[in-house]
Amino acid sequence: MKVLVIGSGGREHAMAWKLSHSQKINAIFIAPGNGGTHLNPKFNNIDLTDINLLSDFAIKEKIDLTIVGPELPLSKGIVDLFRSKNLNIFGPTQKAAQLESSKDFAKDFMYRHNIPTAKYRTFKMPDEAHHYVNEHGAPIVIKADGFASGKGVVVALTVDEAHDAIDFMLVDNKFGDAGAKIVIEEFLEGEEASFMVICDGKTILPLATSQDHKRLLDHDMGPNTGGMGAYSPAPIVTKEIYSKVMDEIIYPTINGMGKDGIPFTGFLYAGLMITKKGDVKTLEFNCRMGDPETQPILMRLKSDLFEILYTAALGQIDSLEIEWDTRTALAVVLASAGYPESPKLNDEIHIEDRIIPDSYIFHAGTIYKDNKLLTSGGRVLAVTALGNSLKEAQIQAYEAISTVKFNGAQYRQDIGYRALNNN
Ligand code: AMP
Ligand code: GLY
Repeated sequence: MKVLVIGSGGREHAMAWKLSHSQKINAIFIAPGNGGTHLNPKFNNIDLTDINLLSDFAIKEKIDLTIVGPELPLSKGIVDLFRSKNLNIFGPTQKAAQLESSKDFAKDFMYRHNIPTAKYRTFKMPDEAHHYVNEHGAPIVIKADGFASGKGVVVALTVDEAHDAIDFMLVDNKFGDAGAKIVIEEFLEGEEASFMVICDGKTILPLATSQDHKRLLDHDMGPNTGGMGAYSPAPIVTKEIYSKVMDEIIYPTINGMGKDGIPFTGFLYAGLMITKKGDVKTLEFNCRMGDPETQPILMRLKSDLFEILYTAALGQIDSLEIEWDTRTALAVVLASAGYPESPKLNDEIHIEDRIIPDSYIFHAGTIYKDNKLLTSGGRVLAVTALGNSLKEAQIQAYEAISTVKFNGAQYRQDIGYRALNNN
């Protein structure tokens, strides 16, 4: 079988790595891939991102299954396009992907289906938005409706910050159409966790639990990023919390999408806020796997990823069970200097040959040019390791990091600290 993985991050490198363990696969293409996938002879990087050209490629190469990593091609309708050409693809349709591509769609959907989430209002007019903030006070959260390169959410600790964010989006139009509509919502307190499932339109297959660290600096300080590290499982998701998430969020979401005539296929990612009292609320939905959560989750997957996703794309996962390694996996992201504001590119990366057992270096912002491996993005590598405990996984991951060098590399020293403190 031939598979095509769409994307270029650590998530897609991890997917391709796991797919390569399947006995059923004889070719793995990644579009566009990265320096790490280029250097691995098991993978073929394809320099394409346009969804029409990707569908032409899938037809020409007779691809048996396409797996979509990031949100952008999903929001452009890649699944609808591939299906219209009878190509087998795993992911949500453009309409279903609105759970991620429009905050207003997601909030309206959650309210209509009684899915727990922060109270909110949607605004297009700045005056009304300012008035709402004056009435409700701070802290308060301002969100651009559409994609804004990861900068569309402002957790305003003061009323002034909230007013500035409203003007930035609705008056100065800094995010263009993506910020022409905003959601203002109640500030929630608690601990975040990531909860992902696979759905084939009918049946739900939960993935292992995970948690990521969104802030740039140790002790969860500094600006928000795409994620500086992650681990699986997440001890905060106890059996009780797990049941609540399935009963109050996951089943109502998949059933609600079905009732609304938009059946959901693909990965559904619920960003959770777990309160001190043990209640769960939905912060956001993503229609894809998380990055870097995918790296530790797939390191723990014992089942054949190809078989799972191929069966899911055919709508037949009711016959499947997933087997997990009981150990913990932990990923630490190495980012380039200047990330997340203005990542410095083109620094040469040196990786020693020394092998650290049970670890793997997944590439993200890397490129292979003129016989050199160079940085090409903000998040450069996710160094991931397995251990008998979270502590062991952490020690092993940091040991593996000592084999990597590039100018200005920055990474957190404390990935996993919350889970260690909770144990
Ligand atoms: P989102 O993309 O909606 O998940 O927001 C990005 C990040 O902003 C989340 O991971 C949280 O850390 C934070 N955030 C979003 N919404 C809220 C909220 N209502 N209360 C507190 N923090 C939030
Ligand atoms: N790590 C968070 C995300 O993938 O959205």
